[in-house]
Amino acid sequence: MTTEIQPQPGIMEISLYQGGKANIEGASRVIKLSSNENPFGPSEKAIEAYRRAAHELHRYPPTDHRSLREAIGAVHGLDPDKIICGVGSDEIITFLCQAYAGQGDEVIFTEHGFSMYRISALAAGATPIEVPERERVADVESILAACNEKTRLVFIANPNNPTGTMIGGNDVARLAAGLPPQALLVLDGAYAEYVEGFDGGAALVEARENVFMTRTFSKLYGLGGLRIGWGYGPKEIIDVLNRIRGPFNLSQPQLDAAEAALKDRAYVEKCRTENTRMRAWLAEALAELGVPSDTSCANFILARFADQAEAEACDDYLQSQGLLVRRVAGYNLPNCLRITVGDEASCRRVAHAVAGFKALEK
Ligand SMILES: Cc1ncc(COP(=O)(O)O)c(C=O)c1O
Repeated sequence: MTTEIQPQPGIMEISLYQGGKANIEGASRVIKLSSNENPFGPSEKAIEAYRRAAHELHRYPPTDHRSLREAIGAVHGLDPDKIICGVGSDEIITFLCQAYAGQGDEVIFTEHGFSMYRISALAAGATPIEVPERERVADVESILAACNEKTRLVFIANPNNPTGTMIGGNDVARLAAGLPPQALLVLDGAYAEYVEGFDGGAALVEARENVFMTRTFSKLYGLGGLRIGWGYGPKEIIDVLNRIRGPFNLSQPQLDAAEAALKDRAYVEKCRTENTRMRAWLAEALAELGVPSDTSCANFILARFADQAEAEACDDYLQSQGLLVRRVAGYNLPNCLRITVGDEASCRRVAHAVAGFKALEK
């Protein structure tokens, strides 16, 4: 049967998002290191706030998210009126594409950039433009060279997923200054909290009119399952995004848990410190086994193997040991595996298993 019912242009070009595997067939005790989750889970205070909110499930949540925005503003020294909250930072990325890019417009991201940029650009009917990186690091020159009068959005994750690499403040400022006037730079700070003293680009948002920052509660705050993110940008842009945001996009349990998580600074600090410690340990242990990685600024390591065959064989071996990591061929990195930094026991198990794999190869 032929039908005239057709999706909007671009939709059928979207390849479904590939999440990290959560199970291994036949294995009961699996260590999941495939989705960059916090191995320690959320703060007890966030869990308590979530439970408390359950008693009010008959009430609609507030539409303005004022309490959470004020808490974010207080912790980060930001103006709450320039904050918008969403269902994960994914939703903020979707709003940006929907609001600022349509048919005939271009959305730029880098070779190994986060896959939601392409998906959201296509969903909005815009054309995704992928530009080369230099040795797995975003390259300001190649981004600027790709800009033209059709460019509407430029996405950079800093630190980036899945490479774990970052570009410095001067490079980011140079990028913002070099964009055409109709283009907005989006600094995706999903992993910004893992970088001690880093503002994620907030100061650049303050200084310019063409920079926007996204952040999340999914990583360091351990709330990936609850879906809360936020964005910070010029008031005019926040106003635009609020017009397309569903009025009740976040539930009361989401809002309360996020606020409690944010306020538990001791827990946040503990998780950050432990990630830094085990990340260094894991990178060194793998390097000693002949598996190098770039210096990671996030909560994962991009382990490099000789080729795709070795990366896949190692992944198969890790799975046989109950360890789930992430293949990243879909990110143009076929010879790599992305390994989330787990707790100490998990990191030791990964190193032990990679050693076992390497011994089998000999
Ligand atoms: C770079 C980057 N940005 C954004 C996200 C989206 O996170 P969330 O929607 O959970 O806030 C992720 C999640 O993996 C990510 O890696």
